[in-house]
Amino acid sequence: MKQITIVESKNHVGEEVEIGAWVANKRSSGKIAFLQLRDGSGFFQGIVVKSEVEEEVFQLAKSLNQETSILLTGIIQEDSRSKFGYEIAVKSIKIIGESHDYPITPKEHGTEFLMDHRHLWLRSSKQHAIMHVRNEIIRATYNFFNEEGFIKIDPPILTANAAEDSTELFHTEYFDQEAFLSQSGQLYMEAAAMAFGKVFSFGPTFRAEKSKTRRHLIEFWMIEPEMAFMDHEQSLEVQEKYVAYIVQSVLDNCDDALSVLERDKELLKKYTELPYPRISYDDAVKLLNENGFDDITWGDDFGSPHETFIATQYDKPVFILNYPKAIKAFYMKPHPDRDDVVLCADLIAPEGYGEIVGGSEREVDFDALTQRIKDFGLTEEDYAWYLDLRKYGSVPHSGFGLGLERTVTWICGTEHIRESIPFPRLLNRIYP
Ligand code: 4AD
Ligand code: MG
Repeated sequence: MKQITIVESKNHVGEEVEIGAWVANKRSSGKIAFLQLRDGSGFFQGIVVKSEVEEEVFQLAKSLNQETSILLTGIIQEDSRSKFGYEIAVKSIKIIGESHDYPITPKEHGTEFLMDHRHLWLRSSKQHAIMHVRNEIIRATYNFFNEEGFIKIDPPILTANAAEDSTELFHTEYFDQEAFLSQSGQLYMEAAAMAFGKVFSFGPTFRAEKSKTRRHLIEFWMIEPEMAFMDHEQSLEVQEKYVAYIVQSVLDNCDDALSVLERDKELLKKYTELPYPRISYDDAVKLLNENGFDDITWGDDFGSPHETFIATQYDKPVFILNYPKAIKAFYMKPHPDRDDVVLCADLIAPEGYGEIVGGSEREVDFDALTQRIKDFGLTEEDYAWYLDLRKYGSVPHSGFGLGLERTVTWICGTEHIRESIPFPRLLNRIYP
């Protein structure tokens, strides 16, 4: 007999098949038992009719506990009344692994309880939907950059220097030397762009940020493209094209997941229309001041209420351009017409999800970059290799970083970033 998965059942209507599954839930009457089954590929219903199976099969079905794993045989049939479209008329059941007192019951549980049981919580239909959207975004990322002629380059995780804020580094030992976990692969990607032209990385990054918000993780995954011979305006075009491509891929391939998440698909469609609006930092400050945000003056960084307000002025993601030099990283190139702002942009997601992309044109002049490294209190020798890139055929180049989990959270429309990654690392949480 053919062993299939639940998602394949549409190709086997009328056939007798075997499926390995877990019992997510069940209900039964004297004559019929309904098993809510899941096998990782999907969810559907098993029907056990007392008059059509051996008595012991019916009794076994009625006795199954939540999350018991079973091997069952039966006939696949269409079921227009169920949201899954198909079901299995069960013939036999074999218990593979018993389950007793499964802690996550269909009733409501508090967040801390669910987070303590994240290893089990992942089995629920909402988490299943979110992880499928995450997977689709990852697949779309590889497709997009390969179609656009980029090559994937993997920067190191163990590093000897800071790429972003040096106060947020995780320290570790590298034999008798101090080392850090990577905050961003960018500096290495710049070296790679000088070797391969258009490159992208995709890997874990670590920030010892003492932020406990719905947007911050301690360990998160970032996609970092870097492009030689591209100015910042060209980089913005790549960014918006990439983000729209991701949203379209999710719409095309994750319809069921979006339904489970009750996500408004019409709203998502809007986000595939280009171009995305652009507003300068200067104008953003004015806009905030005119709308009662007295806590912001020119030179301040924006917090989430500010980003959220700016986002609500548009129906698509919005780029905020040219932030003050003093609040951005050392490697950003100053604006050619004024030295107080840099050629950078943050892409702010709609609906209050905040910054999903940060990018900039890079300083390419050896002397100017050396001065910036000193100004930031960083040690020149640590960056000798990075400065080398400005000595041997330095060219204009730009790049950006997209935070995977922020993007998953936004596209799924979920409340908190903790559900966008299988095992979130949060302030005060490294278990499980
Ligand atoms: O703006 P960031 O810090 O930019 C960089 O790291 C650059 N080196 C990228 C580059 O130009 N190659 O981070 C980029 C993105 C943010 O826009 C956000 O989406 C995400 O990474 N991010 C976080 N996501 C979750 N938790 C955190 N603590 C994050 N910090 C940044
Ligand atoms: Mg940023």
